[in-house]
Amino acid sequence: MRHDVDLPDLAAMERFGAAIAARLRPGDVVALSGGLGAGKTTLARGVIAALGHSGEVPSPSFAIVELYEPPDVRLPLVHADFYRLTRPAEAAEIGLDDYRQGAALLAEWPEHAGGFAHEPGCLAITLEHTGLGRRAIVEPGSDWLMRVPCP
Ligand SMILES: Nc1ncnc2c1ncn2[C@@H]1O[C@H](COP(=O)(O)OP(=O)(O)O)[C@@H](O)[C@H]1O
Ligand SMILES: [Mg+2]
Repeated sequence: MRHDVDLPDLAAMERFGAAIAARLRPGDVVALSGGLGAGKTTLARGVIAALGHSGEVPSPSFAIVELYEPPDVRLPLVHADFYRLTRPAEAAEIGLDDYRQGAALLAEWPEHAGGFAHEPGCLAITLEHTGLGRRAIVEPGSDWLMRVPCP
């Protein structure tokens, strides 16, 4: 099943991020695909803000992994950008499984980590340019079928 969500501006990104955040559970992965500038970090920021975080959200493009913990956010969260990985096995080598214990994962460039679509808790989102705005193509894993964050 596939859902398209129109995201014409930054306010729409924020609302979509909040809809994802409201449904997010430990163990989930939100896999954010799309090229450079597609809006992956922008959507991740919307999720993290709606989970309760009020400070800055650095792009994890350099550190690869940024961690958020309660009480700052509603549930433990890993925000990762796998762009710089050269092999999927590097995700395990940096300790991704340990980071993910009890946490939800927001993953930019999920393909570089081997992909997560085989996990029932994966919400796969592909962002595309449409004029000045964006469109999200949302493909929920089986654990997401009853809580798809689409209007
Ligand atoms: N829905 C949107 N409409 C208009 N501009 C957007 C939208 N989403 C993101 N942007 C803008 O696109 C630029 C790149 O976004 P970013 O989230 O950094 O992309 P990515 O992480 O995919 O490389 C930013 O300047 C951001 O403000
Ligand atoms: Mg980014």
